[in-house]
Formats: sequence, C-alpha cells, structure tokens
Amino acid sequence: MRRGAFLMGGIASVGGAMSVRALSPLSARAAGVDVVDLTLTAAPLHFAPFAGISYRGLAYNGTIPGPLLRVRHGQRLRVRYLNRTGAESTIHWHGMILPNAMDGVPNLTQTPVPNGETFLYEFAPRPAGTRWYHSHAFPQMMEGLFGMIVVEDPHDEPADRDLALVFHDVANPASVEAAMKGVSTAPMVDPFGSPELAAMAPGDKMGDEVAYSAHCINGACYPKTPPITVSVGQKIRLRILNANPTQTRYVRLAGQTLRVTHSDGNPLPQPVDVEVLRVGVAERYDAWFEVTKPGSWLLQGLSTDPRAFEQAVIVRTPGMEGATPMGSPSVLSDVRYFTYELAGAAQAVGSKPRAERIDVSQAYVLGGGAWASDRWTMNGEVWPQTQKIAVHRHDRVEVRFTNKTDMHHPMHLHGHVFEVVEIDGRALRSPLAKDTALVAPNGGTMTWRFTADSPSGRWLLHCHNDIHMMDGMMTEVDYL
Ligand code: C2O
Ligand code: CU
Repeated sequence: MRRGAFLMGGIASVGGAMSVRALSPLSARAAGVDVVDLTLTAAPLHFAPFAGISYRGLAYNGTIPGPLLRVRHGQRLRVRYLNRTGAESTIHWHGMILPNAMDGVPNLTQTPVPNGETFLYEFAPRPAGTRWYHSHAFPQMMEGLFGMIVVEDPHDEPADRDLALVFHDVANPASVEAAMKGVSTAPMVDPFGSPELAAMAPGDKMGDEVAYSAHCINGACYPKTPPITVSVGQKIRLRILNANPTQTRYVRLAGQTLRVTHSDGNPLPQPVDVEVLRVGVAERYDAWFEVTKPGSWLLQGLSTDPRAFEQAVIVRTPGMEGATPMGSPSVLSDVRYFTYELAGAAQAVGSKPRAERIDVSQAYVLGGGAWASDRWTMNGEVWPQTQKIAVHRHDRVEVRFTNKTDMHHPMHLHGHVFEVVEIDGRALRSPLAKDTALVAPNGGTMTWRFTADSPSGRWLLHCHNDIHMMDGMMTEVDYL
C-alpha cells in the first residue's frame, strides 16, 4: 500500500532561513510511510544575511539554503517542483543513483521546466547518506537554489546530536561574468599553507576567481548564526556540505579533533581523525566530535578573505554564554587536514591499483583556463564537443584524469558512486567511494573506477566549479 504524507519533522525552515539545528528523529508516522510527498517552490528572494548585503537571489520555499530534506532509506520521495524563478529550471539530486529522467539536467535528461510550471520528481533516494539537491540551470545554483537531503541509514551509529551545516556564500555577479571570460581580478583566498595557494606560481594571473560578498552557514552570517548548545559527554555528528560554486572550503572546529566517517555520504574505509576538513565544491563530509569539557568554540570556514569571519557558528556548553569563543587562524601549516591520501591509505609513488578486468577506459587531460580565455577543456575540447564515454550495462569502467591547469577541479559524475583508486601516481590501498573528487593541478592525476550498473541513460561528468563547467569542462557517460 502506498500512502503519502508530509514529512513535517524532516523539513527545517525557521525564521526565513534554515538555522543550525539538530535533525530530529523521524516521527513514527513519517518513518512509517512509503512515500514522502512535498512541494518545492523556487522563487526570487531578497537575501540579506549581513549588514550592507542585499542580494537578489533565488530560494526553494523561501529559504537559502532550501529546506533540509530527510528520508529513510527505502522510502520513496515525491517532490512537486513549482518553478517561479522567471526562467527555465530543473532540480538535480546530487549523489543519488536514480532513474535518468529524474536526474534534472536541462535538455539532457528532461525538458527544462518553464517558468510557472511544475514537474514531478519521484524516486527512492539512494544510497543512504548526506546528499544534496540544486538547480542545474546556470546560474540558479549560485543564486541560492540548493539544499541538503539526508537519506537516513538504519545501520548508522546513533548520535546525540546530528547537525546539518551548509557552507555557502553570496557571489558578486560582476565577478562571475568576468570569471566566465577569464578576466576576473578577484584574488584567491585559500588559507595559508593550502595546496590551492601552493599550486600558484608567483605573479600568476588567475582570471577565473569569483569574489564573494558574504559567507554564510545555513543562511546566516556570524555573529547572527544561532549558537549550537551541546553538553559534556555528547557525541555530535556534523554533516557538512560545501555549496560554494567555485572555492574549496576548509572547516575547523577550534580545540576539537574531528573524526571523519563519510565522504559524499559514503562510509570511509576507516574513520580518519583530523583537525581540519578540506571540502571541495559539492563535496560532503560527516565528522564527529565528543564534548569532553565545558567551553565555547567556533566552527569556522577558514580563508584569507577579510570577511571570512562571517562563516562561523558558536558551539558551546550551557553556562558558557558569556565566554569569548575560541577560534582558529587561517593557516594550515602544522595542521592535520583531511586528504584522500590519508583516508585511502595511499601507497608509494609508482604503486598500481588492484589489477582487475577493465572493459572501458577513458583518459582525459584537463586543460584551458588561460587569462582572457573562456575555455576549460577536456582533451582540448569544450562541451558539447568533448569525448563521451560509452558503456554497456555491467561494464567495469576506468576514468583517468591528468590536470594540466594550475587549479584543482572538483570532478563530479552523476548517477553513480565511483571509487578513487589512484592519486598522483599513488594507488590507494583502500579505494574511496565518492561522487565528486578534487583532481590536483600542475600535472596531478586521479583514476576512478565504477561499474556501469546504474539505470540507463546519459549521465553528466563535469567539473563542479560553475565557471569551469559553463566554460566547457563537461562530458557524459552514456549507456548503450
Ligand atoms: Cu551537483 Cu551536475 O551536479
Ligand atoms: Cu574545474
């Protein structure tokens, strides 16, 4: 029997924005139904997260980010999408394995939804874990059409608090336009000691950087982010999404070690303890910490942007309301931060990934991005001329990237979970299950493997940096 129900407990929309809040357990009624029914309406929103910032954005159901959606693994999700954006639109369900017609890529998997019209997305969200959803019609995602969806895993260790944190920023539209043409003068703002900064030669002109005028967590800027109260003895699970369209985000909770358990919602081979998370564009990390003593600490996005302080929220124990929260410097030297090599136990340079039968293998050189160029390329071509990957069902597929540019590229494959098996010539002893992974610059390499066992169709493979994607760094995996 199929019944519909509104999953009220699973949707957070407080005070016009999704505030930092614990995921409440699914109510018995919501957990018991087979189908979760809801409506998402996308419409313009005047977004003012910080004094002096007034942004004409777009929002799902009136909030940036959109509502936090939560379903139990096995439930079906039925979303009636009402497009009031003023333009064509779609919703992409990032990290989900779902029927191709539900994947939400305009003119590839569906006719875009015209303004004023509706579309019904219906599928059983899988795999379990921290996923997200966003518009796939540029520039709507950077304007505010994104949100987190958690597919609850019944096998997960229960947490005392389960906190969803979306890191997002307000892009400066003029800088976006300039970046698309390769003539942006916005500087890089990655923290000192980051691989992003290290990749740059002195005096390099970037051309593709976007400037951001506000830095938010769940729709608010510090000090307006509502503090999170925790108690000594609690084990807290953080689910962190980097919804910034172009920048890697480094996230640190002062004075705490984070135990990372999931990457892009998928369990890591074994948990990794770090001081700082490194979250590429569109990536998600689940990280835990235990409150061992009273205190007040800042959970922060680290960068050298003068306004970086805005991307912070206080985590504190009761009675610490008057205390100055402990913060972190924007420096990564001597700090253990999350890397794929750490999580996947990278072996020596020259080591080879496990030998196995490979049916289809494709190599891509990532290139382009010269000053004043509007081309970011795969094997010298821009979308839609890029080389496609054709697969048969059950094929074992290998994709190898060589990055000739001086930027990291968060490469993303729709509709699949792949394994990262090689990075910069080092095999991973424990391959990482992911849907988005940063490929290192200046000759960096990465190899993915996956089995073509998803529903048939055309699945995009692209750089999730919005500028690079729109300037051509995109291809597709097509089932024959
Ligand atoms: Cu987050 Cu083409 O997707
Ligand atoms: Cu890129």
